[in-house]
Amino acid sequence: MHDDAALFPILRTVCLLESRSEQYGAYLATVLGEQPWIDAWAAEEATHGARLRDYLAVHDPDFDFDRAFARLADLPYHEDDARPPAEELLSRCVVEALAAGFYRALRDAARTPELQALCATLMRDEVRHYKGFRTHLAARPDLSWPARTRVIARRVRELDDDQIAFAAHCAYGDGDYHHRRSRREYMSRVYALYREEHLAFIQAMLFRALGARPPRRWRWIVRRSLFAAVRLRATHTRLLSGLA
Ligand SMILES: [Fe+2]
Ligand SMILES: [Fe+2]
Repeated sequence: MHDDAALFPILRTVCLLESRSEQYGAYLATVLGEQPWIDAWAAEEATHGARLRDYLAVHDPDFDFDRAFARLADLPYHEDDARPPAEELLSRCVVEALAAGFYRALRDAARTPELQALCATLMRDEVRHYKGFRTHLAARPDLSWPARTRVIARRVRELDDDQIAFAAHCAYGDGDYHHRRSRREYMSRVYALYREEHLAFIQAMLFRALGARPPRRWRWIVRRSLFAAVRLRATHTRLLSGLA
């Protein structure tokens, strides 16, 4: 068995999600207007999907990308009404920060140098995307502190929608889709990746996007609380999905 086989369910799912980013680029252009940097960003995100696809084609040849991706098309990519530009940019900062933290955790969980190197590259790209969106956000009229908090909280909550759960289902399943079951099985694997240092990495980016720099002691308390919450959810989802 491949040394990183335990990570293949995650890699398949994220490969499908990254492969949809061109559609998100089109959505972003409707919110922010056509801009060359949006095209460049979407094109780079598309390379993430392609690189993961190439990796899986070699190491997980049972993965039928075309079939899974066709199935994923049953779910509309973005059902939200367009948000105001500053809110959309802040939402992107959140997503890029989470993506960067996710690839860093995946890199640290990977056992083979090839997958470690791939994840490290994707992590660096996501950090650059985060910084780019933050720069564009800074050029917009300022959002109030409560508004920023609300946007960040909403974007984190949206991680529970069908986008990830359905992609996880398409990565393996042909049968009926059950949102809660699919989400639980996928997230139980993802939560298990995170160590406290990964959360600290994400937290630092989110605080910067929030425009806040709380005292060191507060940052420590928030990080410990986040870590405890992730551990708890990891155990909870693992037990419920029968992977314990
Ligand atoms: Fe990406
Ligand atoms: Fe990105």
